[in-house]
This record gives sequence, structure tokens and C-alpha cells, in this order.
Amino acid sequence: MAFYMAVANRKGGVGKSTIAVMLAHAFSVWGGKRVLILDLDSQCNSSMILLGGEGWVAARGARKTVADYFSEQFEGSSRMPADYLIDGVGDVLGPDGQPPSLSLLPGSLLLDDIQGDLFLAYASKREQPDMGKGLRGWLESLMRRFETDFDVVILDCAPGLSFAALAALYTADKVIVPFRPDYVSLHAVDRVALIIEQQANLDELSAIPLEARRYVCLANYVRDNPRERLLIEETGLAHPMLATLLPQRDGIANAFDWFPQRRNIEEKYAAAIDDVRKLYGEVASLVAGDRKKPT
Ligand SMILES: Nc1ncnc2c1ncn2[C@@H]1O[C@H](COP(=O)(O)OP(=O)(O)O)[C@@H](O)[C@H]1O
Ligand SMILES: [Mg+2]
Repeated sequence: MAFYMAVANRKGGVGKSTIAVMLAHAFSVWGGKRVLILDLDSQCNSSMILLGGEGWVAARGARKTVADYFSEQFEGSSRMPADYLIDGVGDVLGPDGQPPSLSLLPGSLLLDDIQGDLFLAYASKREQPDMGKGLRGWLESLMRRFETDFDVVILDCAPGLSFAALAALYTADKVIVPFRPDYVSLHAVDRVALIIEQQANLDELSAIPLEARRYVCLANYVRDNPRERLLIEETGLAHPMLATLLPQRDGIANAFDWFPQRRNIEEKYAAAIDDVRKLYGEVASLVAGDRKKPT
């Protein structure tokens, strides 16, 4: 069964797509895992990083996007889930010089519109009192349909609270919440934590021990000044926090660009490779620890 890992925050521009792709590359290259990314953001950034612009246009032409998957399956299409995926994505090589096992359900600019349409269609099809949960539950089951073919499924979430974003947050075994060490970002961390743990307010949330929470925060764009260090420390008192901090670094920013020629992961991340290694090491042991927990 795949381990489902969402990367989410109510705020945009905190590094969700960057980190989702970084982990996908690391788990596939270093972990030898079969990795799938679901691009659930209509910004489609993780699709751009993994396919390049032309590749993404081709995926749209072949109706291989998350919007096609959700809407066609709703209409009862006989296409298999795997038929919506693009395999062998990314621009890195595995240790054997071959492309690692990395697949993508590409994002779509239409994802938000599709969800509105689906909500209306769902409401007219089923006479259920709680339509929102019905549609969300159905999207959850569509996401779960990939669980037998992959070891790790990474959900790159949109900042908003769409049905797809909520479905991802409820489906995930673990949610990574990247944040920038500033006050707006911290507020956004509180909001997403309440949703993940399904609590009404921060008082209720604080009753759940940090180690029992389903999410973990990751400081990104860290510039290592005393004010930021204090903010991260304070956040770590209220929320579970990875020991790894990602600095603001060109090697991370440049990895956003897709290269037509595959390179070793060390070349792609260049000066940031130690950051990637550290993050991967910590997240991989989190995954291994979660797997051992009795259910
Ligand atoms: N640690 C970092 N150092 C430098 N640039 C970063 C870092 N993390 C992310 N970025 C850049 O910030 C921008 C937004 O990142 P992105 O992953 O798209 O955020 P989100 O998915 O949360 O909207 C991108 O241009 C990305 O390259
Ligand atoms: Mg993004």
C-alpha cells in the first residue's frame, strides 16, 4: 500500500511544489521507490517542473490531467486510472543511469471549474444531505485508486480549500506544511493544522500531543537571523516541526526549471543537494516510523 504524503499550506509561494518535487526525486532516486505525484493545484507548478511547458501541453492534449481524471471518472468512463498518468517524468537519472520510477497525474487550469461542475452534478445525482462531504469522499476514493501501484504518492495541494484540497488533507497519511518564517505564514500554519486535525480552535488543537499529529511543519526560505530563529522556535512549541530547515538558496530556486537533458540529482540540485539529502533522510524515517505504528 502506498504511503500518501500531502504538501499543503493555505498560503501560496511557500515552496509546496518545490518541496513536493524535491521529495519525489529523492524517494525515487535514493529510496528506489515507485513514486507518483498528483498535481492538485491549478497553478500546475509541479507539472511544469516535472514535464516542462511543452510536455504539459502534450499531456493536456492527451487528456492526461487531474481534471480529465475527475470528470471522466464521474461520468463513468472506462479509462483506467493509470491511463491518466505520465510515467518517467522529471529530469534526473537514477543511480543506474536510467530514469527513476516517477509518475505524474498532471495538473489542469480547469481543476477549479471542474470541481464546481462536479459539485452541481453530484447534487443533482444523489440525494444526500451532506453533498460537500459526498463529493470530497468520492475524490478521496479516486486518489486512493493509485495505492496498489506505487510506494509513495505525493499530493501537491492548492492553497485554497477546494474539495480536492480537503480530500487530499483527509487522505494523507502525513501532511508536510512548508512555511516561511514570517507572521502571515505562521497564521496560515495554524489554519491548515485545524483543518488537518479537524479541531475548531487552537485550544482544542493544543490538547492533541505534537507527536500524535498527522502533520509536520517545515521552515523554508530560512535566512538564519535571530528574528526568524525565534519565530521557528515559537512555532515548534505549538506544532510538530522537522529539524531540517531549508535555507533560501539559488540551488533550490533553480531546481524549479525543467531541463530537457536528464542529469544526476546531485547536478540538478547543485549547492542545495545537502539540503535535499537532509530533508529526505528525515522524511523517510518519518514514513518508516508511521508504517510501524499499529492501526
Ligand atoms: N528555499 C528556497 N530558496 C529559494 N527559492 C525558493 C525556495 N523554495 C521555493 N523557492 C521558489 O519560490 C517560488 C515559489 O515556490 P513554489 O514551490 O511554487 O511555492 P507554492 O507551491 O507554495 O506556491 C518558486 O519560484 C521557487 O523556486
Ligand atoms: Mg504550488
